[in-house]
Amino acid sequence: MSHPIIFDTDPGVDDAQAIAIALRHPEIELLGLTTTYGNVDIETATHNALLLSELASRDIPVAQGAAGPMVKPRHPAPAHIHGANGLGNIELPDVRGKKDLRSAAQFIVDTVNERPGEITLVAVGPVGNLAAALQLDPGLTEKVKRVVIMGGSIREGGNVTPVAEANMFNDPHAAQRVLTAGWPLVLVGLDVTHRCVLTQEHMQRIEAGQGELGKILAGSYAFYRDFYREFLGIDGCCPHDSCALAWLLRPELFTTAPGHLSVVTDGIAEGQTLFAPEGRGFIQERWSQTPLAEVCLEVDGEAVVEWIADTLS
Ligand code: BDR
Ligand code: CA
Repeated sequence: MSHPIIFDTDPGVDDAQAIAIALRHPEIELLGLTTTYGNVDIETATHNALLLSELASRDIPVAQGAAGPMVKPRHPAPAHIHGANGLGNIELPDVRGKKDLRSAAQFIVDTVNERPGEITLVAVGPVGNLAAALQLDPGLTEKVKRVVIMGGSIREGGNVTPVAEANMFNDPHAAQRVLTAGWPLVLVGLDVTHRCVLTQEHMQRIEAGQGELGKILAGSYAFYRDFYREFLGIDGCCPHDSCALAWLLRPELFTTAPGHLSVVTDGIAEGQTLFAPEGRGFIQERWSQTPLAEVCLEVDGEAVVEWIADTLS
């Protein structure tokens, strides 16, 4: 079965790994890349998306999107994690292709309306483009097949604050809108991505299998791995964004639960994702009033990283 997807991304080292999967996997029909600020500024995100598809010899539309959050001021890009160029500060070839003339949100609306009921939106950065698309066409909630989001944390705690995951923290107002829109949504958060470690051995297989693209993936991985070693004591890196695609193609590797999501938009817990399991009573009903979504709680992490390496080698 082929999955037609639009991949919304802020590349980003782990985004680049996921983009490579989206470009290469035979069961993915990649209709477009939409870009957002996040790991890098928006121009760099678009440049990297164009570059990665050129290196895979694919001509994929790239539509540029949000340059900052909907409401909050923008946080500086995390150059110590992804490098100032988003790809580990390695030298990059020139890009020949041009971005699509439409905004990311318009691209999403147009593409989904061409194939109602068929397209999955996979979002692995701050979700402002999805929020903007909903603003342009609220009926999108009925027209997408599914929305898969890498973001949030149910029980794991945060990675940029004690409680917030980076993609949610970067634009909590957009996240609140998107996670409560009532479309069929799956949240692939830190509870599962932190159980997956992509090692140097995996990356050697990927480099060998991916030609020019492999050199970029391996070079940027080396920089990202240094961050994981220094700050988290992990020998390898968490391939967060590839986990969203792993869920789409290998859902049997994940355990999910249904419930109601909300995102804290202000105060000391801003960016935190709150999850009220379906059917569980609390002192008030306010946490259980948002539409049902699915969240990932557990994963076979070794099988996921094997799947990533197999796909790319
Ligand atoms: C998420 O934040 C970004 O830095 C990564 O690319 C990933 O999408 C992990 O919290
Ligand atoms: Ca990302």
